[in-house]
Amino acid sequence: MAHLFIPGPTDVDAQVLAAQAQQMIGHRGADFQALFARIQPKLRQVFATTRRVYVSTSSGTGLQEAAMRNCVEHKVLCCVNGAFSERWYQVAVANGKDALRLDVKWGRAILPEMVNTALSAGGFDALAVVHNETSTGVASPVREIAALVRERFPDVTIMVDAVSSLGGVAIDFDDWGLDVLLTSSQKCLALPPGLSFAAVSDRALEKARRVPNRGLYFDFVDLEKHLLKNQTPSTPAISLLWALDAGLDRILAEGLANRFARHAEMAARTQAWAMKKFDLFAQPGYRSHTITCITNTRKLDVNALNAHLRGKGMQISDGYGKLKDTTFRIAHMGEIQMADLETLLTTIDEFSK
Ligand SMILES: Cc1ncc(COP(=O)(O)O)c(C=O)c1O
Repeated sequence: MAHLFIPGPTDVDAQVLAAQAQQMIGHRGADFQALFARIQPKLRQVFATTRRVYVSTSSGTGLQEAAMRNCVEHKVLCCVNGAFSERWYQVAVANGKDALRLDVKWGRAILPEMVNTALSAGGFDALAVVHNETSTGVASPVREIAALVRERFPDVTIMVDAVSSLGGVAIDFDDWGLDVLLTSSQKCLALPPGLSFAAVSDRALEKARRVPNRGLYFDFVDLEKHLLKNQTPSTPAISLLWALDAGLDRILAEGLANRFARHAEMAARTQAWAMKKFDLFAQPGYRSHTITCITNTRKLDVNALNAHLRGKGMQISDGYGKLKDTTFRIAHMGEIQMADLETLLTTIDEFSK
């Protein structure tokens, strides 16, 4: 039974875990190249792209840094509607980028018209948005935002953080016209932490070639050069790549459409339960399929609840950042099945009655 109802790390299937226990191989040899080569088409399916997907030995924050360093030439508009989008703004500033915040109340989505107004001020060459705000349980309409940007601001590079949604929700990199789409291994992809992935458009890669100070570790131009040889610039986490290879097989065997439907059903069930027993933090119409942020209207002692759940082998999350004391969160992503969720909700009901 899956038991980690937290937004990462999530449970990892036993066979995927076991795949890590293989002997090391040299990362400049043919065995590695074969491994890396067979991972790439599977990743492209999950990202819905015919372009490249870079594999980074870092968590997702590393690729947020990569996006900022490679794709911001002049000024970036950072959409901020929660703790992780705020972090992305901080990454821009920490890398010396000229960044402007578009602040939206936590719990609300970033909408195309807001982006339109902000970009209309001019001077921007990049946009950063979080698809699924893990702190608030809000999913912003990235497809519509991207359509607006592609039409009205074609030179703006669209950088999307889908750390807590990719692999659980349909995101079509090519069809939506995105430029950078990044995620981490330890959430909906149900892999151990330590890897992150970014689909990068031809447009974004060409731009990177002329952006100075891209750094060394996350340089898209260097990643591309090595990807073409089925290699990485520096030593990758080989054990995690074995897990990735097995994990992607598992995801594709379930089928992406089935996987997305499973996440949507679990979200609907959790939301219905939460509305009956508590309240939902996210605005209607933009609620996440992978994490539900619940307003703790009954002032339930979440620490005590979690201690009780741990006794039964389960765990949920408290609120994040400024929502720590007023909300709690149930993640339903990765390996979690509806039956696991039912067990969790029943246990919470018994504890709180
Ligand atoms: C939406 C979002 N972005 C970025 C991050 C940071 O990812 P990582 O911890 O893999 O660096 C998280 C982590 O929870 C997240 O939820």
